Amino acid sequence: MKYHLPVIIFGLLSSAAPIAFGQAASTIHADKVVGYEKCEECHEEEVKAWKLSSHSRSNNVHQDAKTREKAQEIATKMGLANASAMSTSPLCTECHYTRQQTGSATKTISGVSCESCHGGGKDFYEVHGDKEKIPSREERQKLSKAAGMLYPHDTALVAENCFNCHIIRDEKLVNVGGHPARSEGFNLVSWSQGEVRHNFYTPDHERTKGENLETVQTRKRKMFVVGMLLDLEYSLRSLSKGRTGGGEFRKAMGTRANTIIKKELPVVVKALGGEGAPAELLEIKKVADAVKLSGDPAQVAAAADAINPLIMKFSEGTDGSKLGGVDDFIPSNSKGKAWEQ
Ligand code: HEC
Ligand code: HEC
Ligand code: HEC
Ligand code: HEC
Repeated sequence: MKYHLPVIIFGLLSSAAPIAFGQAASTIHADKVVGYEKCEECHEEEVKAWKLSSHSRSNNVHQDAKTREKAQEIATKMGLANASAMSTSPLCTECHYTRQQTGSATKTISGVSCESCHGGGKDFYEVHGDKEKIPSREERQKLSKAAGMLYPHDTALVAENCFNCHIIRDEKLVNVGGHPARSEGFNLVSWSQGEVRHNFYTPDHERTKGENLETVQTRKRKMFVVGMLLDLEYSLRSLSKGRTGGGEFRKAMGTRANTIIKKELPVVVKALGGEGAPAELLEIKKVADAVKLSGDPAQVAAAADAINPLIMKFSEGTDGSKLGGVDDFIPSNSKGKAWEQ
């Protein structure tokens, strides 16, 4: 399936709402973060794979020869003293670093790492894999989820972190700072199956001998649909924060939201049975069809808020086995190369 970007023009906003810059807080609790070294005690291969990925270097864009000029430029335009100030400025740390909070002090301890996607590990890292003390897998999961662990099968809970970082919500960072508005071409399947991939358990939960497996087709389907829906939610969220009318920010968010609403979502709903598609998808489509992208930001934000619980419910209720209708649309390329031993 090819998506063609429609040309749309956004009018100036009449709304006189206050201008709020800055990224909202992510769902990761910095006070629960233990650092990737703790995970490494039992997940050696995962850490090796991660170390070769861009995420392990996301804290280094101001030193890397390929990005340091751009980092300097963004930092200057955003009013930071210099590029290395990005390691302490909340304007940058939410997305480029893993933050750890002890008492009232917060420090940055690495680039984007395990807990940026799986949740702060303090209360679950010893529990979730302890098959001796807690032999029942179901029980381990229940305890670990209650302790803040974001499990890979809870696709939407893990993936909302991707969109929280890969779609910028701070208009000034884009229109003034010159930061990319969003990762061009981001889709959850391709972007998680390349350099980000770290699958060392078989579908029966046996540890492989270091073999980094491609994710199973049912999981890919779920990622494909959930990823598209989260893309819509976060694009709308950002669009609702674009207050100055012009510039790259609103264009990037509006164009993507429009493409999902007009092309991708209808195709997916049709492929999954039209009126017989999962109820949450039909409800999301209703909300999406009613939203006015160039209208009052408050109704755009309200649409994003309405979509979120529907995505969560959809993700919780499916394992992908009944989503075979989307098989033809799942991208087969991957972003970067998967780690091999
Ligand atoms: C003491 C050993 C140990 C440590 C430390 C550890 N893990 Fe694990 N982890 C395991 C074991 C064992 C499993 C397999 C559990 C199972 O099959 O139920 C696992 C599974 C996982 C899974 C997959 C769960 C699933 O069922 O899909 C994730 C995600 C995970 N660990 C993340 C982490 C993160 C993040 C950290 C660091 C904060 C960490 N682990 C630290 C032992 C550990
Ligand atoms: C909302 C999350 C977010 C925030 C906040 C953020 N970044 Fe980024 N940044 C990203 C992502 C995601 C990328 C990778 C974009 C891509 O796909 O190429 C990136 C890429 C970059 C790059 C490389 C750009 C390029 O053209 O290759 C630089 C430099 C950078 N960021 C600097 C900064 C600085 C400086 C700040 C703070 C003033 C900042 N970022 C704040 C998410 C963020
Ligand atoms: C960028 C986000 C991200 C980061 C960083 C990340 N993970 Fe994951 N992790 C995921 C996603 C998404 C999946 C599910 C992938 C899939 O189903 O194909 C996953 C799956 C897993 C699994 C289960 C794999 C399986 O075969 O069932 C384990 C274990 C795990 N991660 C541990 C870790 C550890 C340890 C780290 C740090 C070294 C880490 N993750 C870093 C997003 C991330
Ligand atoms: C905490 C913020 C954060 C989270 C969460 C996050 N990313 Fe990223 N990601 C970044 C930043 C920042 C970069 C740019 C790093 C750099 O250029 O060094 C990046 C880079 C990447 C790249 C390499 C892009 C390129 O241009 O080559 C891929 C692929 C990627 N992320 C996929 C994912 C996926 C998939 C998820 C969720 C499962 C995810 N990311 C979650 C912040 C994040």
